[in-house]
Amino acid sequence: MAVRSSDSAACDAGLQALLETQNLLRTQVANFTFNLGFSGKFYHTGTRAEDEGDDLLLRSVDQFWWFPHMWSHMQPHLFRNESSLVEQMVLNKEFALEHGIPVRSGYAVAPHHSGVYPVHLPLYAAWRKVWGVQVTSTEEYPHLKPARHRKGFVHDSIMVLPRQTCGLFTHTIFYKEYPGGPQELDKSIRGGELFLTVLLNPISVFMTHLSNYGNDRLGPYTFVHLADFVHSCTNLRLQTLPPVQLARKYFELFPEQRDPLWQNPCDDKRHKDIWSREKTCGHLPRFLVIGPQKTGTTALCLFLLMHPSVASSLPGPQTLEEVQFFNGNNYHKGLDWYMGFFPTPPNASADFLFEKSSSYFHSEDAPKRAASLVPKAKIITILIDPSDRAYSWYQHQRSHGDPAALRFDFHAVVTTGPEAPPELLALQRTCLVPGWYAAHLERWLAHFAASQLLIIDGQQLRSYPATVMDEIQKFLGVTPHYNYSQALTFDPQKGFWCQLLEGGKTRCLGKSKGRKYPPMASESRAFLSSYYRDHNVELAKLLHRLGQPLPAWLRQELQKAR
Ligand code: A3P
Repeated sequence: MAVRSSDSAACDAGLQALLETQNLLRTQVANFTFNLGFSGKFYHTGTRAEDEGDDLLLRSVDQFWWFPHMWSHMQPHLFRNESSLVEQMVLNKEFALEHGIPVRSGYAVAPHHSGVYPVHLPLYAAWRKVWGVQVTSTEEYPHLKPARHRKGFVHDSIMVLPRQTCGLFTHTIFYKEYPGGPQELDKSIRGGELFLTVLLNPISVFMTHLSNYGNDRLGPYTFVHLADFVHSCTNLRLQTLPPVQLARKYFELFPEQRDPLWQNPCDDKRHKDIWSREKTCGHLPRFLVIGPQKTGTTALCLFLLMHPSVASSLPGPQTLEEVQFFNGNNYHKGLDWYMGFFPTPPNASADFLFEKSSSYFHSEDAPKRAASLVPKAKIITILIDPSDRAYSWYQHQRSHGDPAALRFDFHAVVTTGPEAPPELLALQRTCLVPGWYAAHLERWLAHFAASQLLIIDGQQLRSYPATVMDEIQKFLGVTPHYNYSQALTFDPQKGFWCQLLEGGKTRCLGKSKGRKYPPMASESRAFLSSYYRDHNVELAKLLHRLGQPLPAWLRQELQKAR
C-alpha cells in the first residue's frame, strides 16, 4: 500500500480519483467496489508523500473491500510448513486489526499465484486457520495460456476462481507508453481481447496494481471505458458481488469445474518456478498397474519388485497396500500427498517407480486424472475370465467378513434383482461391474495411446509368469534384463509360482492370495457366461482392433455364445 506520487496534494488527488472511479463504475456496474490487497510490512516504508498516501487510504478504509496479500509479499511456496506461513499471516492480521482494516471478506491472494496452483498444501491450511479464507483466484489453472481455457476448482474447501488478464501490469503506467502504442490498449477495450474476455466469461476477476491508478490513471481509464463500451454495444448488465457470493455463483454456473485435475508442475515452466525445490517432480510413477481386483495384481507386484530397477509406492498409515489416488477422494488430498508415497530420489538405480491400485481399472475418473498427471505413464492391466474374477471377489469379501457375502450365497449375489437390500446390491456391483472389460478399457484408451497399454492374460501370468515378465520388461523398456526363469519357482504346497530365495526357500504371497474355496456352481457359471456375453464380444473386438491375441477363456466364451 503506497500511493506513488510526488507530494501530498497528489496523494489526495490519487485517493479522490480512486473514489471517483469507484462511483463512476457503480453507474455501469451495480455494487462495484474496489477490493484492495494489503501487505502490512510495507506500510510507511516509502517516501514521505507515499507514507501520507498510506494514511489517507487507511482513513477511507470503509469505502473499499479489503483482502490480505502476504505480509512481506513473499511467495508462499517458499515457506516449508504451515506454521511458518501462519506466523507471517498473523503479522498481517495484527496490522489489519491495528489499522481497522475490515478483513471479513473470506478472500485472499498469493503473490505471483504461488502456492495456489500448483497447490502448496500448507498455504491452504494456513489461509483457513488465520483468515478463514474461502475464496482465492489465480491465472495459472490449468495454465496461463490460452487464457480462454482458464478454469476454477475447489481444494481443501477453498474455492479457486480463474482470474483474467486485463493487459495492465506493474510497468504499464503511461498511456502513451503502452506496449505497441496506446491504440493497442484502446483496441483491446473496444471490441478486442479485454472486451471479449468480459463478453465470454460470465464472471471476470481482474487484478491490477496501485501504479496503474497513480501516474496516468490507466486503471480507471481502462475499466471505465470498458464498462462504457460493454454498455453501449451489448445488452449485458454488469454487477459486482462480494468474493464468497461470487465464487458460489461461479460454481453454480460451472459445477463440473469443482473437481480439479492435477498436472505435473514440471511440465509448465511457470508452474515449476512456483513449485518448491524440495518437491521434485520425479516422485511420480512411470507406470501404473490398474487391476482389476483379483486378477493376480499382487503376484505381479511381487515379481516386478524383484527387478533391481523397479520400485513401488510405499504403504502409508491410512492406505494399507494401495494408494488409490486417482479413483477416489484421496485425489483431493493433492499432489504433495501423492508424491509422499514415492520417496526414491529420481537418480537412484531403482528409477522405474510404479503404483498398483486395482480399483483404478473400472473407475470413471482414474483414466482422465492419470492422463492429466502422468500422461507418458505406461499402463498395465490383467484380465481373467470375468466370471472367475467375480467369484474370487465374492470369496475375498467373505473372508473379510462382508455381512452380505456371509449371508448370501454367490448365486444369490450375482442374480439378485434391483429390489434387493442395498448392501447386497453393493456387493453385486463390485462382483459384476469390474468385469465389463471392454467398456473400462475404452475409457483408458480414450486418454492413453494403445502403445502405452499392456493387457496381460491373467491365466498366463499364473501359469507362465517368467514368460509374461519378459514381455513386461520389454514393454517397459526396463534394464538390465532380469532372468525370471531362474528367479521364480513353482511351490507345490502353495500351488502357485513364488520367488526363489537363497538356499532354495521360497517367498510366496500370503494366505489371502490363492485362497482355497469350492469351485463355482455350474448354474452360476452359466448365468455369468450369459451375463458377460455382450461384454466379452466387445472385448474380442477391442483386442482384435489392438492386434492382440484372445486369451483362451475368451475364445471359449465366444464359442459358447455362437
Ligand atoms: P484367488 O485367491 O481367488 O485364487 P489380486 O492380487 O489381484 O487380488 O489377485 C488374487 C489372485 O491372484 C488370486 O485369486 C490368485 O488366483 C491369483 N494369482 C495369480 N498368480 C498368483 C501367485 N503367484 N500367487 C498367488 N496368487 C496368484
